[in-house]
Amino acid sequence: MKADEVLIAHHDVLRGLLRELAETTDDQTGRREELRDRFLREIEIHAQIEDELFYPAVPDVSPLLALAHAEHRQIDDQVATVMRLDVTDPEFTTEVRMLEKTVRHHTMEEEQRMFPQSHALGEERLEQLGEQLRARKRELEDSGGMRLIVRLKRATLRHA
Ligand SMILES: [Fe+2]
Ligand SMILES: [Fe+2]
Repeated sequence: MKADEVLIAHHDVLRGLLRELAETTDDQTGRREELRDRFLREIEIHAQIEDELFYPAVPDVSPLLALAHAEHRQIDDQVATVMRLDVTDPEFTTEVRMLEKTVRHHTMEEEQRMFPQSHALGEERLEQLGEQLRARKRELEDSGGMRLIVRLKRATLRHA
């Protein structure tokens, strides 16, 4: 898989999780918590593989980078808001939908503006980079470090 294909597949996972989360009802507390935690974990991994491997590899990306980083920060803030809310809070779904909107906007912008620029790297390099992204993603999924970060983040945000 090419680098952009790997990231688009992961965008689909992120968007899917938020869509599912937004569609849950107030009585599905366990499901809400599970989807919220899963999203937190996936978005942490996603931002990390982009920052570490993808963004630095894309040619002429600098004009788009400041915006991408600002959007990652905005997503972070909105995730924090969603993490702090009790899943039965009447505002919960509203906040999830706002987060979903930001994530949609950011991922579409990457897909429409940044990913086409990555095509300048050529097929071979894109495949290679795709493999690196997949390997790093797997590593983070399995890593105790990432699990710890997510757990700490969840605990801090919940009790802040
Ligand atoms: Fe991004
Ligand atoms: Fe992305």
